[in-house]
Amino acid sequence: MISQSKNKNIVILGSQWGDEGKGKIVDLLTARAQAVVRFQGGHNAGHTLVIDGKKTKLSLIPSGIMHPQVTCFIGPGVVVSPTVLLNEIAMLRQEGIDVTGRLKISANCPIVLPTHIQLDLAREKARGAAAIGTTGRGIGPTYEDQVGRRGMRLGDLLKPSRFIERVTELLAYHNFLLEHYYHVPTVSLETVLEATLSHRDAIAGTLCDVTASLDDLSRAGNIILFEGAQGTLLDIDHGTYPFVTSSNTTAGAVSTGTGIGPCRIDYVLGVTKAYTTRVGAGPMPTELTDQVGQHLRERGQEFGTVTGRPRRCGWFDVILMRRSALLNSLTGLCITKLDVLDGLKTVKLCVGYRSQNQTPESVSDEALLSAPATSSAVPFAIPFAIPFDSEDLAHAEPIYETMPGWAEDTSGMTSWNSLPDNAKNYLKRIETLVGVPIDILSTGPDRIETIIVRDPLA
Ligand code: GDP
Ligand code: IMO
Ligand code: MG
Repeated sequence: MISQSKNKNIVILGSQWGDEGKGKIVDLLTARAQAVVRFQGGHNAGHTLVIDGKKTKLSLIPSGIMHPQVTCFIGPGVVVSPTVLLNEIAMLRQEGIDVTGRLKISANCPIVLPTHIQLDLAREKARGAAAIGTTGRGIGPTYEDQVGRRGMRLGDLLKPSRFIERVTELLAYHNFLLEHYYHVPTVSLETVLEATLSHRDAIAGTLCDVTASLDDLSRAGNIILFEGAQGTLLDIDHGTYPFVTSSNTTAGAVSTGTGIGPCRIDYVLGVTKAYTTRVGAGPMPTELTDQVGQHLRERGQEFGTVTGRPRRCGWFDVILMRRSALLNSLTGLCITKLDVLDGLKTVKLCVGYRSQNQTPESVSDEALLSAPATSSAVPFAIPFAIPFDSEDLAHAEPIYETMPGWAEDTSGMTSWNSLPDNAKNYLKRIETLVGVPIDILSTGPDRIETIIVRDPLA
């Protein structure tokens, strides 16, 4: 019998362009979960956890690993670099966290090879000014090989002679591209085997049938958290193409990336900053290059976890967030980094766009509010046009609603009532305009610097 209790299978994903603070929130909610699962992406992700002032950065291992009672899973939708995985396990061991028996990985995970990294870097270089600004971790080329049905998977490591045969074939193809198309150095078979087959024994001990294990856990009534990487607007199908990552980052990927069917998902939490950031190239209508942008970058410490690149910063974009709510059928919002807005005289919300190629949109409150403010009724007809072409979106001029800011320091606040009135008004306005309730609010990087408005696990 499948458990009838509510909210057992909970998805936590980014609803902007990544780095929304997913890691912190997954870690926080894991205290009451039995399993945490990554379902897409790879070590392009960088999730920072702060527990009692101590920072841990994870890129591949689920953010729930800090809690000893929990089993962490990496589903078949995740691309895995064996070297990065083992380094991360070793880093955690040094921190006193033993993952033995608690980290289980699908044998179907595609392997990130050293040549994938070379191809990623070579392609970016060849694109010149049109570069995507990838993390250079080989993620795109690995997914390409998976879809091209020529990729290597973790389970292949269990049969060394077949592995060597197949990887030699793949290497010939990669090296042909590297040498003759991109004119960059090739990679030797020894290097590839060192990064893969030499880790066979260590990897073999972690492999399991993730789908069956999750099904067992779920049927036994356990709470399972599904941890997204990247963000909705980086989704390969629904994001700001071609400035996206190479996986589906939206809620549908939970099913394809784990094998757990869509009807098993009880709740989807969309993590979003109280403003907007983006790393890498691509359209970002609300980007600020002025002093306010600088305030957000400095106060928010907006530098990439993986690459250290400064993140582009701007105002909160209601229009894109509504799209995100629709794409993910968001049940609740978690707004992070409210504290970063402290001290600004005014705060702005983008509530529409004027486009060069379109008649200016007039945004009436009536139209905005006609959409019910309940999560289950995310409107299917969005009242304003979103330019779907990245070039058009890049030229879209935001229409802002301006609200008074607050001078008070909200860092570390743990109760809604202690928030300044203007902060409450700003948050309530977001809730109304997006049409999804704010269930969690984050006021600082530490696990405890959080306000649970409505418990997703209740
Ligand atoms: P993720 O990729 O979504 O997990 O996010 P990252 O870890 O890449 O980036 C979020 C950053 O913001 C991390 O450095 C977090 O420690 C930090 N952070 C998370 N929540 C808050 C918050 O409410 N306030 C502040 N000031 N920092 C936060
Ligand atoms: P987390 O999980 C922010 C961005 C890159 C680039 C694009 C494609 O920490 O939120 P890729 O290497 O995936 O081919 O790069 O996607 N990107 C991210 N931006 N946070 C991430 O992960 C990201 N992972 C990829 O900057 O624009
Ligand atoms: Mg990140």
